[in-house]
Amino acid sequence: MGPSVLTRSFPRVDGRVLCGEVPLEDLADQFGTPLFVYDLAWIRGRVAAFDDAFAGADPLVAYSVKANGNLTLLRELEAVGCGADITSGGELFRARSAEIDPSKIVFAGVGKSEDEIAYALDERIYAFNVESRSELERIERVASERGETARFGIRVNPNVLATTPHKYTATGHSDTKFGVPWEETRALYRWALDRPALSPIGIDVHIGSQIVDPDPYVRALDRVLTVVADLRTEGVPLEYLDIGGGFGISYGHGPALDIVALASEIVPRVVDAGLRLVLEPGRSLVGEAGVFLTRVQYVKVGGPKTFVIVDGGMSELIRPSHYGGYHAIEPAGPIDGRQAIVVDVVGPVCETGDFLALDRSIPEPREGELLAVHTSGAYGFSMASNYNGRLRPAEVLVDGADVRVVRRRETYQDLIRGEV
Ligand code: LLP
Repeated sequence: MGPSVLTRSFPRVDGRVLCGEVPLEDLADQFGTPLFVYDLAWIRGRVAAFDDAFAGADPLVAYSVKANGNLTLLRELEAVGCGADITSGGELFRARSAEIDPSKIVFAGVGKSEDEIAYALDERIYAFNVESRSELERIERVASERGETARFGIRVNPNVLATTPHKYTATGHSDTKFGVPWEETRALYRWALDRPALSPIGIDVHIGSQIVDPDPYVRALDRVLTVVADLRTEGVPLEYLDIGGGFGISYGHGPALDIVALASEIVPRVVDAGLRLVLEPGRSLVGEAGVFLTRVQYVKVGGPKTFVIVDGGMSELIRPSHYGGYHAIEPAGPIDGRQAIVVDVVGPVCETGDFLALDRSIPEPREGELLAVHTSGAYGFSMASNYNGRLRPAEVLVDGADVRVVRRRETYQDLIRGEV
């Protein structure tokens, strides 16, 4: 792993790393560590960038709630016009609690239960993105029992393998559980055409996450558009094409996906097909807007290794240990000309796999020092757990000089809530 690199979203000014106008050290002093901090201005800027880039295709930006489902964050995204891509009844509840317009909600996921389908019908979401024939049959049954019509699109598995940093985050090829094989989708739409409880209004594809090359999107889209063309001739009245999410960001090294270049390929094709575009960005709206703050507890030299033991780990940010994810790490305060040394930054959890960085070169850390773990706004808190009896951290939202705690730190009582 390479050296620590500063991401642009959190500049270092006069030696101290800031979020908005606020030094991260002040936030840690005030709210404790470990702590997630999000920069609202950055998130708004990202939404505007998507709106602008895809403006030609009447885009619905359906934020992928799984990336970070914090209620206040969802409210802020709603305020700038976002809808939601949800994957469970729980995420529907979050999205509706944040007053996201149900006509801007799409529901993906391979395992939708009857209860979740009924809940989504109650809420009158825009559409189900359907992942199998059995699921479509279930939706048809639930909707017809209620005398309703369910709007849906089929999630096509285009059998396109996109390069992603880890095999767990590629979803567009035929040996993953996602979507309906593209050759089988026409038959499924045809089946639905005769059912009054089903209304086919769209088509969907999502090929993976943290993709930095436009090419696999274009290949997947072209495959989907062949299906669209056939459906048109058969009188299936589609209105949306959902290209999914997965738009790659820079984790402090390596390129990000150029969304303007992507849009220049996608928009004309979708407009030609007479469809409105749905996008499901998650990470690309919130990832770089977040930093994870953790304090050095101990510096332990063991054999050939120097371990920097911090107060946050895999229970708060599982990406390094689960996907080998890279997050830039640096002191949040002054570096003062310190030499860089190579260390493992590890957490307090009793697992060898509990680390935030391995063999990482950072300015020689001191006990008590605050470290900023960058690009932690997506799949940080949302994947956090109470493993090892850990309390999930507080979350703080910064807007310029304005600071709000948007989730309080858990307490020991929270750990046993609901247990008997
Ligand atoms: N739409 C669908 C159907 C998805 O499954 C996902 C992510 C997204 C949109 C949003 O993808 P994004 O724009 O955030 O890349 N925990 C992993 C990522 C898992 C992504 C799961 N699906 C990570 O930390 O890298």
